[in-house]
Amino acid sequence: MIKEGTRPTKTLSVILNGQKRVTEIQSNETLLDVLRNKFQIKSVKAACWVGDCGICTVLLDEKPVKSCLVLAQETMNCTITTVEGITHNDKLTELQDAFIRHGAVQCGYCTGAFLILGHYIINQQQRFTFSEIQEMINGIICRCTGYLQIIESILEVNEKQFR
Ligand code: FES
Ligand code: FES
Repeated sequence: MIKEGTRPTKTLSVILNGQKRVTEIQSNETLLDVLRNKFQIKSVKAACWVGDCGICTVLLDEKPVKSCLVLAQETMNCTITTVEGITHNDKLTELQDAFIRHGAVQCGYCTGAFLILGHYIINQQQRFTFSEIQEMINGIICRCTGYLQIIESILEVNEKQFR
């Protein structure tokens, strides 16, 4: 049996929010662990650690994944995007602004996950209906807002793309 702390380590290299980042990882570490504990990306939250809550959602090679379900070693040379990677010059994105105006942020624990998923939805350059957005976000749990404000925010920015 391998004792905690004595597992063999590997060097992980990824492009995180546009920058090359390198760290040592153990074979059992998840992407969630590495983002929070090695790269200090604290916008990525954790609640269930088993794929149920979606709070740990990030983009991996431009696709949304639950980072607690991904082994860090599987992300070698991949591109990873978190909320820190979608803002420019510390300005709010249109979606962040919409979240504030619609009251889509309450305790904020789920907000990083919904923003990154909303960013993905908007980047599809496709017009979605309320129901389609509702369906697309149903993998993330919010205990505060009731979801309506989150859907309305994403819908508003999505619709603006086609005016
Ligand atoms: S912490 Fe990853 S899905 Fe809940
Ligand atoms: S705003 Fe509190 S969990 Fe979503």
